[in-house]
Amino acid sequence: MNKQLQESYGDVASDIKAVVISEEEIQLRVRELASAISVDYAGRTPILVGVLKGVLFFMADLLRSITVPVEVDFIAVSSFSPETREKGVVRLVKDLEASISGRDVLFVEDVVDTGLTLSYLLRNLRARQPASLEVCVLFNKPAHRLIDIPLKYKGFDLPDQFVVGYGLDHREKYRNLPFVGLLKADVFSTAKNKP
Ligand code: IMP
Ligand code: MG
Repeated sequence: MNKQLQESYGDVASDIKAVVISEEEIQLRVRELASAISVDYAGRTPILVGVLKGVLFFMADLLRSITVPVEVDFIAVSSFSPETREKGVVRLVKDLEASISGRDVLFVEDVVDTGLTLSYLLRNLRARQPASLEVCVLFNKPAHRLIDIPLKYKGFDLPDQFVVGYGLDHREKYRNLPFVGLLKADVFSTAKNKP
C-alpha cells in the first residue's frame, strides 16, 4: 500500500497509513458541489470567502468548476498547535480586502470539527451585514461538534480521526497530497515532523 502510494504521489506520501478519500472521489464531489452552487446562485455574483491556508486547494478546484461569475477573498486566523490550541479562540491576522456589505457571501471551509472556529468567523462576517451568508464545507467531522451550524453545502462526513491532505496539515506538512489520508502513528509520537 505505502509503496504504491509513494510511487504515485512521491515521498510526501510515505508517512501515510491509509487513504480515506481518494483524489478521484474528492474531484468528483467538488464538481458536484460547484454545480449545485452554480444553480443556486444563478443570476448573482457571490463572493467566496475562505480561511487560509487549509482551504487553498478546495477553493481553487471549486472556483474552476463554478459557472456563475464569482469573486474570491480570504481571511487568515492565528493557528495554534493541536496541543495548545485554545478551543474557539481565533485571532484574525488577515482581514478581507473587499466589503461584503449587501453581498451574497459563501463561506468556504476545508474542515469543520467542533464548529467553534466556524461559528466565531460566521458571527464576525454576519456583523458586516451581507445580503446572504451560506456555508460550504468539504470535510465534516460531526463527532465532536459543539455548536450546530447549518451547512448548506457539504462534501463528505468524516469519522473521528485526524486526517491530512488536500489542504489539511499536520504541523504544516501534507497539505499538498491530492487525497485525504491517515498518518502513521510514529509521525505523531516522534520529533520527526517538528519544523
Ligand atoms: P473546529 O473549531 O474544531 O471546527 O476546528 C477546525 C480546525 O481544526 C480546522 O480549521 C483545522 O485547522 C483543524 N482540524 C480539525 N480536524 C482536522 C483534521 O482531521 N486534520 C487537520 N486539521 C484538522
Ligand atoms: Mg490546520
